[in-house]
Amino acid sequence: MRTVVLRETNDQLQLIFYTDKRSEKMNHIKEHDAVSLLFFDTERLLQISIQANAKIITDDSKLQSIWNQIPQNSRKEYTSKLSPGKAIKNPEAVDYLEGKHFFSVIKLIPNRIEYLRLKRPNHIRVLFKKENTNWKGMFLVP
Ligand SMILES: Cc1cc2nc3c(=O)[nH]c(=O)nc-3n(C[C@H](O)[C@H](O)[C@H](O)COP(=O)(O)O)c2cc1C
Repeated sequence: MRTVVLRETNDQLQLIFYTDKRSEKMNHIKEHDAVSLLFFDTERLLQISIQANAKIITDDSKLQSIWNQIPQNSRKEYTSKLSPGKAIKNPEAVDYLEGKHFFSVIKLIPNRIEYLRLKRPNHIRVLFKKENTNWKGMFLVP
């Protein structure tokens, strides 16, 4: 389990997050691409739970165009000299590379989405399943 920032969604319901290609999650995704995601909106009391397959984006021109949109000060996150997770003496002891980065983009392709909205008089729980290319939805007992 990791917290990540949802960077982008599109009309195919794909979700995008960014990471350092040396991070352990990359190895986990390479070994096994099935992932699950959990979102919770505290104001609307809405929970979205998603099962998806994770794909590492390898298209260089796509990666470059995303990289170009990242603000300069945020690019630093992907340039540490040592890999994420390595031991350091203190939080200031992180050196950064110039002119090299380990930026990576992961695309999540959902195959099952569960929607749960808590409200009175009836909670609403809906399961959406992808069958071939079509999505089918059904209400469930909350
Ligand atoms: C608020 C928050 C947002 C985060 N966003 C990301 C993210 O977008 N991408 C990422 O790789 N790690 C993000 N992290 C860090 C991961 O949760 C995780 O701790 C880190 O990437 C190490 O994971 P690893 O097991 O792959 O080494 C975030 C952590 C927090 C607390």
